[in-house]
Amino acid sequence: MSKTLVVKDLSAGYGPLKVLFDVNMEVEEGSITVVVGPNGAGKTTLLNSIAGLTTIYKGSIKFNGQEIVGVPPHKIAQMGISYLLQMKNVVASLTVRDNLVLGAYLLPKDEVETRIEEVVQLFPRLKEFMDRKAGTLSGGERRMLAIAMALMRRPKLLMLDEMSTDLAPLLVKMMMRKVVELRDELGLTILLVEQNAKQALEIGDYAYLLVSGEIRYSGDPKELLEHPEFSRLYLGITR
Ligand SMILES: Nc1ncnc2c1ncn2[C@@H]1O[C@H](COP(=O)(O)OP(=O)(O)OP(=O)(O)O)[C@@H](O)[C@H]1O
Ligand SMILES: [Mg+2]
Repeated sequence: MSKTLVVKDLSAGYGPLKVLFDVNMEVEEGSITVVVGPNGAGKTTLLNSIAGLTTIYKGSIKFNGQEIVGVPPHKIAQMGISYLLQMKNVVASLTVRDNLVLGAYLLPKDEVETRIEEVVQLFPRLKEFMDRKAGTLSGGERRMLAIAMALMRRPKLLMLDEMSTDLAPLLVKMMMRKVVELRDELGLTILLVEQNAKQALEIGDYAYLLVSGEIRYSGDPKELLEHPEFSRLYLGITR
C-alpha cells in the first residue's frame, strides 16, 4: 500500500523552542490517521511542520515520496496538502461564497465555479448561506465552511486540526461522519487532530498518541481507546 506521508525522526519547534522530538509517523493513502494527546503536546506543531510553518531541526517529511522539509508553505499547499487551522479558519467579514473563492487560491478562475458546486454538494447546507457573511454562521456551520474551503483545491491530503472542538455532541458526530464520507467517497487521505479523542479514535484507521512532543503510542485506534493507562491518563476517557 502506498504512503501519502512519511515523517521520519522529526524534531521541530519555533526558533529556540523545541516542541517535537524524534517523531515518526506514516499516513497510508486513503486512510484516516488520528493524532491525539493532551493540550500542549505538540499536535498542532506536527501539522504546522508538515505545512512548512515551523523550524525543523532534524528529520524528514516525505509527501508522495518527495521531501518537503525546506519547501515553502505555499508550494506545499500547491503540491496537494490542505490544512484546516485550529483557529481563525474562515474570514468573518466575507460572504460564504467569497470564503470558498479564497479557498480556491491560485486555481484558474473558470475552475472555481465548478469546485464551488462540488463542495456545496458535500455540504448542501452551505447553499442556503452563500451570500451571508461567514461571521454570522453558527459554530458548526462555520466549521463546515472551513472544511469546504480546504477541499476547494481538491487536496490529496487533508489535515484537520480540532474541527469538532466546542461543538455540540450531535454535531461532533455529524462532522465525524462527514470525514468518513470524504475518505470513502472521495478517497481522500485525512490526518485528523482531535480533542474529542473518543469519537476520532472510533473513526480512525490508525492512531498516534503524542505526549510532550514524543509519540507514545502508534497503532490500532480501538486498542488505544481501550488502553488501561493511556486512555484515562492522556485522553480523559473513563469507563
Ligand atoms: N507559534 C508558536 N510560537 C511559539 N510557540 C508555540 C507556537 N505554537 C505553539 N507553541 C508552543 O508549542 C507547544 C506545543 O503547542 P501545540 O499548539 O503544538 O500543542 P497542541 O498539542 O496542539 O495543544 P492543544 O491541544 O491545546 O491545541 C506549546 O508549548 C506552545 O506554547
Ligand atoms: Mg492544537
